[in-house]
Amino acid sequence: MSQTARNRPDLPPEIARRRTFAIISHPDAGKTTLTEKFLLFGGAIQMAGQVRAKGEARRTRSDFMAMEKDRGISVSASAMSFDFKEFRFNLVDTPGHSDFSEDTYRTLTAVDAAVMVIDGAKGVESQTQKLFEVCRMRDLPILTFCNKMDRESRDVFEIIDEIQENLAIDVTPASWPIGVGRDFLGCYDILRDRLELMDRADRNRVAESVEINGLDDPKLAEHVPAQLLEKLREDLEMARELLPSLDMAAMHEGSLTPIWFGSAINSFGVKELMDGIANYGPEPQIQSAEPRQILPEEPKVSGFVFKVQANMDPKHRDRVAFLRLASGHFTRGMKLTHVRSKKPMAITNPVMFLASDRELAEEAWAGDIIGIPNHGQLRIGDTLTEGEAIRVTGIPSFAPELLQGVRAGDPMKAKHLEKALMQFAEEGAAKVFKPSIGSGFVVGVVGQLQFEVLASRIELEYGLPVRFEASQFTSARWVKGDRQAIDKFAESNKQHIAHDHDGDVVYLTRLQWDIDRVDRDYPDITLTATKEMM
Ligand code: G4P
Repeated sequence: MSQTARNRPDLPPEIARRRTFAIISHPDAGKTTLTEKFLLFGGAIQMAGQVRAKGEARRTRSDFMAMEKDRGISVSASAMSFDFKEFRFNLVDTPGHSDFSEDTYRTLTAVDAAVMVIDGAKGVESQTQKLFEVCRMRDLPILTFCNKMDRESRDVFEIIDEIQENLAIDVTPASWPIGVGRDFLGCYDILRDRLELMDRADRNRVAESVEINGLDDPKLAEHVPAQLLEKLREDLEMARELLPSLDMAAMHEGSLTPIWFGSAINSFGVKELMDGIANYGPEPQIQSAEPRQILPEEPKVSGFVFKVQANMDPKHRDRVAFLRLASGHFTRGMKLTHVRSKKPMAITNPVMFLASDRELAEEAWAGDIIGIPNHGQLRIGDTLTEGEAIRVTGIPSFAPELLQGVRAGDPMKAKHLEKALMQFAEEGAAKVFKPSIGSGFVVGVVGQLQFEVLASRIELEYGLPVRFEASQFTSARWVKGDRQAIDKFAESNKQHIAHDHDGDVVYLTRLQWDIDRVDRDYPDITLTATKEMM
């Protein structure tokens, strides 16, 4: 990870106060509840429950969304901004379902840190592990929240051990729980020597906080029964011996995670976690790009699209492109250059997603995320700048794991189908390949569920019933090499060749043997499972 503003005091204060992060977790660990409490303490909502209620209302708008609701998954990701103390938090929502991992990966390219939520009774679950691996690929700093401490949970050392072993990351306790389940009293705030007591009577109220002068302070005994106090002292002594202390450099490199314990539903431990994000979380980071990297404090605006979302209104095919600002101070109405097409774009209606609703973004700084409504000009991986031909790198596209053929229910509407498929390909919702031979399309996704989502969206947004059916191919690889070599290769392997929506050559097959054969027989060609979005 690159350096942070803490060792670069030259960052403009507006940028230095920004914290852009995502929450990763296994379904049911408490991500929604925690998000809600963040917004509550961020002053963005008045009452917990609004996020969910609002989500429901939005979801009823379309069958597609109804499907999302039925399955209890969040298919689409968005970003929310709110203030906490003197900080501006940008929380980018990650889709929770494993079928959408590519989307998740790209979402994580837009954040500077991740909060990992685990359930205190369940520990590290499969989806947490997967998402963690993605964070690791990017060396993202991780802050951990161990939730549901108001229920029977595992022994704290056991939880910490499990994280250290399964995720190969060092863990340092930022707080320590006192009692478990029904006896859970609160936490000892290790970083600030404070006792935080949970208020079970009012779930939206912030707990009582008692300043403590070290573990020998007699004040402790006034609040903590003798037995629990003895255990707390023992535990903390052991923790000090066995576990590392908070080392900011290690945390920012992603090799050490501080852990807070709490209960999101009881609003407990959430403020401490937010303080942790504010005080220890990284500021907007340096962005890798070509031909040079981008520093957040550069005065000129630059940003990249990491997500494109179809408008929720099925009658309009407008889309919102989510742009992460990599540098500068953006103001509404600015004219930016769309680097891929070299065309200027006036950004007149940018939106920021404040929890209450979308709002026009009058201004934004490096680290912020703005939504840009457009008719399809903006694609994932695109860079916008104030003129310089610079391209943000590191936003990958992965070879799909499942391939299916697709056919329009009404053969007269094949053109519409092509248009719909191209839209989804540009949105990043699927890979679409047009084989050289024959007339159909092959669609590739990461998880089976995406086919169903696509089918219902094509029907809903284009009025076009479609059928997905088995394809003769099961794998797709991009063909890399110089132009001549690719042409020659394509010519002699026509039955395997297709083009993706960018016109890049793709090799389709059902046999690993074929891929091995190409590797062996065509030394000037490489078959790859990832391609950089551009
Ligand atoms: P997710 O987004 O990660 O899937 O989790 P979500 O917040 O929806 O929480 C999953 C369930 O866990 C919810 O219960 C929620 O109320 C509960 N929960 C969240 N935090 C805590 C906590 O600190 N303690 C306890 N005991 N439970 C917690 P549910 O019954 O599925 O939904 P609901 O009926 O409460 O809405």
